[in-house]
Amino acid sequence: MLEVRDLTKRFGGFTAVSGVSFDLAEGEILGLIGPNGSGKSTTFNCLSGLYLPTSGNVRFQGRDIAGWSSSRVCHAGIARTFQIPRPFKNLTILENVAVSAYYGRARSVSRREAFVHAEEALAMVRLPVDPTLGIGGLGAAGLKKLELARALATGPKLLLADESLGGLDESEMDQAADMLQAIRRDKGITIIWVEHIMGVLMRVVDRVMVLDHGEVIASGTPAEVAAHPKVIEVYLGSDPTARQHAQA
Ligand SMILES: Nc1ncnc2c1ncn2[C@@H]1O[C@H](COP(=O)(O)OP(=O)(O)O)[C@@H](O)[C@H]1O
Ligand SMILES: [Mg+2]
Repeated sequence: MLEVRDLTKRFGGFTAVSGVSFDLAEGEILGLIGPNGSGKSTTFNCLSGLYLPTSGNVRFQGRDIAGWSSSRVCHAGIARTFQIPRPFKNLTILENVAVSAYYGRARSVSRREAFVHAEEALAMVRLPVDPTLGIGGLGAAGLKKLELARALATGPKLLLADESLGGLDESEMDQAADMLQAIRRDKGITIIWVEHIMGVLMRVVDRVMVLDHGEVIASGTPAEVAAHPKVIEVYLGSDPTARQHAQA
């Protein structure tokens, strides 16, 4: 479904993503992990059209999409969430999601259809569909769900979830993991899930790719990656608690 070759993104003299290559099969959940600043969000920004890659190729379902605008990428079937949710503050929860459906789908939809898609997306993430509810009452976990609903309302084939579940408690993190699993199972959506902590991600993903300083240092099954010496050294350090946590 997705072929990424030698993806590189420089900001001036600084290389944030350096020669990243990977393939993604339809229906897979790939975990993309790495310490803060390792280039995960920048990779998403290059795949989703927010940034123009400095070099490299991105092929999605047989088409070269590197350099496409983010709206064109979205219409082609790739939706992404942002690590820091920025909803429209003056719109209701339902309206926030309807805007995505209205502008983000491959086929243009009526206002009424946009609201139907929004209701479906909200049901998927288990947020209330009540049209009177504003976003004021949503906490950190609720805003993450809203972000996910906005992406889902565009009807993606590939979801780039910049989850980074920091700020959520353990049960909320588990819920988020279950939700991504259900999205794949029920909707057949392929997923790349970005996260900086390994724990909860490891039980959901089929494969993991680890970035450090913009480079892929390991990839494989969760078990392979958790045991990889480079990952243990660079990512987990020598902290035995972190290691246990990652392998749990
Ligand atoms: N727009 C930008 N301009 C300059 N540097 C950036 C920009 N975006 C990201 N960076 C830098 O690139 C590196 C990777 O950032 P990022 O992809 O956000 O990391 P991650 O998501 O893995 O925490 C960081 O050092 C960050 O400061
Ligand atoms: Mg990030």
